[in-house]
Amino acid sequence: MADAVAANTNIGTIGVVGAGTMGSGIAHVFARAGFRVLLCDVEQRILDRAISAIRANLGREAAKGKLAEGEIEPALARILPTIDRDALGDADLAIEAASERFEVKAEIFRALDRILTQDAILASNTSSISIRRLAAETRRPGQVIGMHFFNPVPVMALVEVVRGQATSDATFARVEALAVRVGKTPVAVNDAPGFVSNRVLMPLINEAAFAVMEGVATPEAVDQIFKLGMAHPMGPLTLADLIGLDVCVDILKVLEDGFGDAKYRACPLLVEMVEAGKLGRKSGLGFYSYEK
Ligand SMILES: NC(=O)c1ccc[n+]([C@@H]2O[C@H](COP(=O)([O-])OP(=O)(O)OC[C@H]3O[C@@H](n4cnc5c(N)ncnc54)[C@H](O)[C@@H]3O)[C@@H](O)[C@H]2O)c1
Repeated sequence: MADAVAANTNIGTIGVVGAGTMGSGIAHVFARAGFRVLLCDVEQRILDRAISAIRANLGREAAKGKLAEGEIEPALARILPTIDRDALGDADLAIEAASERFEVKAEIFRALDRILTQDAILASNTSSISIRRLAAETRRPGQVIGMHFFNPVPVMALVEVVRGQATSDATFARVEALAVRVGKTPVAVNDAPGFVSNRVLMPLINEAAFAVMEGVATPEAVDQIFKLGMAHPMGPLTLADLIGLDVCVDILKVLEDGFGDAKYRACPLLVEMVEAGKLGRKSGLGFYSYEK
């Protein structure tokens, strides 16, 4: 199967580093499309949680008729969870989906650059961090690229493909073809803080949080205004809960530092909520409650 899926791109095995919200979604999508996936995180507990989330999400797809029941177990069997980063050595492409902190990603990029074969591509699912700076941590800057998936990965069609300063045309073409191969629509952008998606989205979420903090409106009212007035499928605060309020604050920090502009300063309400462990959907509480 891995040979068949490798046609056009020479990519049959995918390494995914970080098995949280995004890493598990990315593993799901590649395994469903027939790729072998090496899924790595720092603790077995996190990997176990990721595999059960993927199993549940594949089941949900089967229930909707998007996948045959008989394809669930073979897809899961293609995912090899590991806490040993060295096990990613035979990946043709590694996608880093760890926390949105430059130091965390830089350390992973340096390690993967040592572990992976010479031809392998190193991609980051970063929401905002410079691809050029990550590439500079490696000896393969031409093979470093941004592959920005959207949440929930099995559902959302877009992949923002981010060209770093040194990304080669060959790397870009292989990653673009790969995105199409797994049913996604790649859209090319150049490297700048937040790329396009989060440069535009995060100020919206931040202003919505300010409106709540200043007592202008409740979260429900803010979200209703965007759903009914602007035809957004969900309001900005529901979306912030889905993304993770910690991830939003981290992205705003990258925008503020990257542009040197205080207009991106994270709303104190967002910062306080993160400090209190209210991270949104993943912690059970954010602007809304998700406790069962
Ligand atoms: N949440 C979203 O909606 C969204 C959307 C697009 C992109 N992203 C980006 O994807 C990345 C991951 O975000 P997430 O929401 O999945 O975060 P998350 O907190 O759910 O998961 C991050 C995972 O990375 C793991 N990790 C941290 N350091 C590691 C290391 N050194 N080696 C291996 N694993 C490590 C953590 O244990 C955790 O499981 C971030 O860069 C984020 O900006 C997030």
